[in-house]
This record gives sequence, structure tokens and C-alpha cells, in this order.
Amino acid sequence: MGLLRKIFIPFVGLVLAFCFYSAREDFKPEMLKGKRVIVTGASTGIGEQMAYHLARMGAHVLVTARTEAKLQKIITRCLELGAASAQYASGSMEDKAFAEHVEKEAEVVLGGLDMLILNHVGNSYFNYFDGDVGHVQKLLKINFLSYVAMTVSALPRLKDSVGSIVVVSSMAGKVGFPFTAPYSATKFALDGFFSSLRQELIIQKVDVSITLCILGFIDTESAMKAASDVVLVSPCAEGGVCAGNHQGGSPPPTGNLLQICSYQNPLPDPGLGSRTPGLSDQKKLQCGKPKEKFISL
Ligand SMILES: NC(=O)c1ccc[n+]([C@@H]2O[C@H](COP(=O)([O-])OP(=O)(O)OC[C@H]3O[C@@H](n4cnc5c(N)ncnc54)[C@H](OP(=O)(O)O)[C@@H]3O)[C@@H](O)[C@H]2O)c1
Repeated sequence: MGLLRKIFIPFVGLVLAFCFYSAREDFKPEMLKGKRVIVTGASTGIGEQMAYHLARMGAHVLVTARTEAKLQKIITRCLELGAASAQYASGSMEDKAFAEHVEKEAEVVLGGLDMLILNHVGNSYFNYFDGDVGHVQKLLKINFLSYVAMTVSALPRLKDSVGSIVVVSSMAGKVGFPFTAPYSATKFALDGFFSSLRQELIIQKVDVSITLCILGFIDTESAMKAASDVVLVSPCAEGGVCAGNHQGGSPPPTGNLLQICSYQNPLPDPGLGSRTPGLSDQKKLQCGKPKEKFISL
């Protein structure tokens, strides 16, 4: 029994981990051709880059954010890159009605939906929790409740198309790091909700996949502004998008778009927008060297 515990169980664990991480790469860019995709928070950063990747693969894209002028530029660029079509809807995800409107817009302009990529994030700060409950409430509306509202509206159409939901989360949604309390709470909430929903869809034999993306530090403009002077580690390049945790339904056709950034010492991520007061030197975090790892799901 002792031998079994010491050698056999770790060995089986290693074999399973090896099989999981070296799974056959079956992603082809053509899988996205003609697919109807919503990308939220696509006026900048990771969402913008995802929209360009999708455009190159010939998808129909509908991008959202608050800043209309930026979205107009992004859809022009998407069309140049080869998108089958490109549209935008501007508004704030703090407003539940807007979240629902976007999904209806997908029906009107895209004629249905194959993939919902939930990526937008409200501004927060990178500092000690300041006791502002109103801020936590606002952030929950933007980073969590709007994700739920959009999922509820989109599910009937995703069931029709055997589609996918992609939820962009963070290391801070898996581990409680300092200086990210409100943001971290919203990302943990996403994990709880979508991991549970995924199981329910499997039980109900609903063929809609849910992928939770666990990102580390990525060098988007807002992240660099928020934390480059605090987090002493090289960020991943913005063009790559990190992911983990996919189960249920068909595999998401996002394949090699997905990248896991794992760190020897896990780091808080600075995907917090720009409401960041300066931090004193004593709060600077000395972190391990980044160890990037690419994975296809
Ligand atoms: N960058 C990182 O290091 C990192 C690490 C881990 C996880 N992440 C996650 O990755 C995702 C994208 O991060 P990012 O760094 O690309 O962020 P970003 O550059 O700050 O982009 C955020 C996007 O959300 C939109 N947005 C902000 N507030 C909104 C609101 N109230 N309503 C609707 N849209 C709103 C912004 O556009 P408007 O301002 O025009 O509305 C923008 O398009 C987030 O979910 C973040 O948590 C990022």
C-alpha cells in the first residue's frame, strides 16, 4: 500500500498530465471561417487582438466597448484583414440592458451566434483595499453580472449552433494575491459561475462548450500603465491569448490562439484598467522568472 501511494499514484498523475498537455493539435484556422463571433472589450488590448485574429481567419465579428471611435477603427482594420463582416455595438456593460442588446444585435447583424468571447473589464486599482464597497459593486456589474446576462441571452442561439463561450479570466481569479481584492473577487465569481454552468450543460447534454481563460501578465497598454512599475517580471506579448480549463460541448475552435502563461511564482495580474495610484517601493513584488508555456486545447 505504501509503495502504491509513493510510486504508482504519482506515476499515474505524471502520465495523465503528460497526455493532457501533449494532446494532439487539431486546430485549423479554417474552423473559424464564416463563424459568427462576439468579442467584448475589443476597443483595445487583448480583445482588439482577438478580433484581428478572428478577422484573419475569416470570421464574422461583432465587437463591443464604450468608445465608439476606437471600435470604428477596429472594424475597418478587421475588414482589411479579411473578416467576413465586421460590426460594432458601443455602450457600457455596467448597464444590463446593453449586455442584452448586444446579443440581440448579433441576431440582427450576424443572423445567429457561434462564439461568445467575454473579455471586457472595468477599471480598478492595484493597491490595498480601500473599503469602497460601491467600487466592488460596480466592478461586479461590469466584470461578472454582464457576463452572466450575455450568457443567458446568448445560450438559445449557441445551442442552435453548437457554439462556444470563452470567458477571459486571470490568475487573480484562481489565487488571492494582494492589492487586487475587488478585481480578484469578480474573477473568482466567473470561475464559480462558469465552472458550475459547464457541469450543468454536460448533465443536460447541451452541446455548448465553456472555456475559462486563465491569463498571466500581458503587456496591454492598460496593464502596463497599472502595474509595470510594481510587478517585476516580463509580461507575455499582447498578441497571444492565454487559456485553460475547457470542457463540455465541442472543443472551442480557437486552438493556437490560446496560450497559458505559467510562472514559477504565480503573479498578480494587472488587468485592472487605469485607476492605479502609485505604489511605494516597499510594496514592489519581486517575482520569479516567467516560464511561458503554450498549449492548444
Ligand atoms: N493584461 C493583462 O495582464 C491581463 C492579465 C490577466 C487577465 N486579463 C484579462 O484580460 C481581459 C482583457 O484585458 P486587457 O488588458 O486587454 O484590458 P484593456 O486593454 O483595459 O481592455 C479592456 C476593454 O474593456 C472595455 N471596457 C472597460 N470598461 C467597460 C465598460 N464599463 N463597459 C464595456 N466595456 C468596457 C474597454 O473599452 P472602453 O474603455 O472603450 O469601454 C476595453 O476594450 C480582461 O478580462 C482582463 O481581466 C488581462
